Amino acid sequence: MSASFYQPDTVTCNGEQFKIFINRQQIDERISQLGEQLDKDFADKKPIFIGILNGAFIFLADIMRHVSIPCEVDFMKLSSYGDEKVSSGQVTELKHIDAKIEGRHVILVEDIIDTGLSMNYMVKRMKEENPASVSVCSLLHKKEATKFDVQIDYVGFEIPNAFVLGYGLDYAQEGRNLSQIYVIDKEND
Ligand code: IMP
Repeated sequence: MSASFYQPDTVTCNGEQFKIFINRQQIDERISQLGEQLDKDFADKKPIFIGILNGAFIFLADIMRHVSIPCEVDFMKLSSYGDEKVSSGQVTELKHIDAKIEGRHVILVEDIIDTGLSMNYMVKRMKEENPASVSVCSLLHKKEATKFDVQIDYVGFEIPNAFVLGYGLDYAQEGRNLSQIYVIDKEND
């Protein structure tokens, strides 16, 4: 018998307390809406989804299964956070895509856009390879924290500038396996 999804009401991760912020039902409903939108916008375009590892792996897996048009997938791996809660301010490319994207419609899939540094880098990097188009799809967006110029075409949820965890997002590499999204609980700091 398999265990059910891991979705407690509160969780401690690396000694800090987190509480539920966006639950499974809210995530599922929003992803289903985004899937419908992508189906319309990319009908007959055979897009290639490029997931940005590690954080986007769960969102990417879910959103792709809500899309019913022909599509492909590939991955890129970036690092800018290290094990801290604030960005190091530098993007390091740890893995590049294998696919040839010249003339293709690319959809960059990210877990969260915070300062926008990583996505700003990704869009420029993709454009160097002459795709037909580059669109950005992010599950979360911390609008108040965004300093770099990024056009976000599809966003799951706009959120305040607080540290979040779960559904692929980590704190020092832990907590990605939580199936909902949690926010740091300031009252328990
Ligand atoms: P940006 O380059 O500052 O936009 O940061 C993007 C990356 O930082 C994301 O892909 C995440 O890996 C990480 N990140 C930003 N905010 C959070 C957060 O609240 N929780 C977990 N990871 C985050």
